[in-house]
Amino acid sequence: MKILVTGGCGYIGSHTVVELLENDCEVVIIDDLSNSDKIVLNHIQKITGKMPIFYEGDMKNFDLLRKIFQEHTFDAVIHFAGYKAVGESVQKPLMYYENNLESTIHLCEVMNEFHCKKLVFSSSATVYGSPEKLPIKEDAKLSTTNPYGTTKLMIEHILRDLVVSDSNWSIALLRYFNPIGAHTSGLLGENPKGIPNNLMPYIIKVATKELPQLNVFGNDYDTKDGTGVRDYIHVVDLAHGHLCAVNKIINSTGIDAYNLGTGKGYSVLELVSTFERVNNIKIPYEICPRRSGDIAECYADPSYAKEKLNWEATKNLEEMCRDSYNYVSNINNK
Ligand code: WQD
Repeated sequence: MKILVTGGCGYIGSHTVVELLENDCEVVIIDDLSNSDKIVLNHIQKITGKMPIFYEGDMKNFDLLRKIFQEHTFDAVIHFAGYKAVGESVQKPLMYYENNLESTIHLCEVMNEFHCKKLVFSSSATVYGSPEKLPIKEDAKLSTTNPYGTTKLMIEHILRDLVVSDSNWSIALLRYFNPIGAHTSGLLGENPKGIPNNLMPYIIKVATKELPQLNVFGNDYDTKDGTGVRDYIHVVDLAHGHLCAVNKIINSTGIDAYNLGTGKGYSVLELVSTFERVNNIKIPYEICPRRSGDIAECYADPSYAKEKLNWEATKNLEEMCRDSYNYVSNINNK
């Protein structure tokens, strides 16, 4: 199969490209490199022995999208490209709505023009907002609390309307919980520039002494130890979920959403202590006030993805912590 991966140089995108190449797919990447680096292509080649075809550019560029579809016949598209920082989306909502919605609409228009109607969309558990019931099933109430999450929910609605208008489309909406970890080679991973918003990249910056301590945002939630509980999932498990989703949509039509989580929730302090134990390193922290917009607890019921995609997460929290630290140790020692 030949797959177009938008945002394929990014954290989840690059791990998915490796998974596709290792399963005999041909891969073409379009990425504007706004939140990634071209060196990732060399690392993908080092891991798989194959170099994906790469187009640098903006998804909103119709001419570039058409050029790519003129030069390649795709069996399916996996669409990662988009802005994804919750805090930034609150500060710059118009930038998020324009970029995330426009790039998806342009992609679908060009896919339609070239009769490619198989799409896997990178959605997020953030579309559930503050869950009424745990674990979260795909038919839970959808509500968002920030512009980033709202772009994901709006795109889900746009894609559902597209399928109603043309039943030849086949679309999988993958709702990720909290992706962490890195490829065991230490060549791919997450190491955002600047002060990270998310927990694991922040812990990593403390581990490498780039930041002095972790600020734990609240220990007065109604959870096992008072700190926030999340469903952390290894990015390699997540990547495999995309291959399973492609195999599903290739032989079907319609649209469906799938939770990609482990079904287990871990608190901030559990993640910190696991990271310390696995990597034999101390992570100093201080309990601080809650972060606005945070929810207490969120974890998936992944049974529908197991039933329909024949997918389930296999890696545990220890592997996620070990692989995350292994990656930054590897790049810092280069
Ligand atoms: C996890 C827990 C924090 C940082 C976000 C997005 C979501 C998805 C994943 C894209 C919470 C606590 C965090 C810190 C802390 N991204 N924390 N100190 O907020 O669950 O989800 O990332 O799809 O859309 O909303 O992830 O890693 O930011 O927070 O105590 O410095 O860690 O309060 O309980 P979150 P997170």
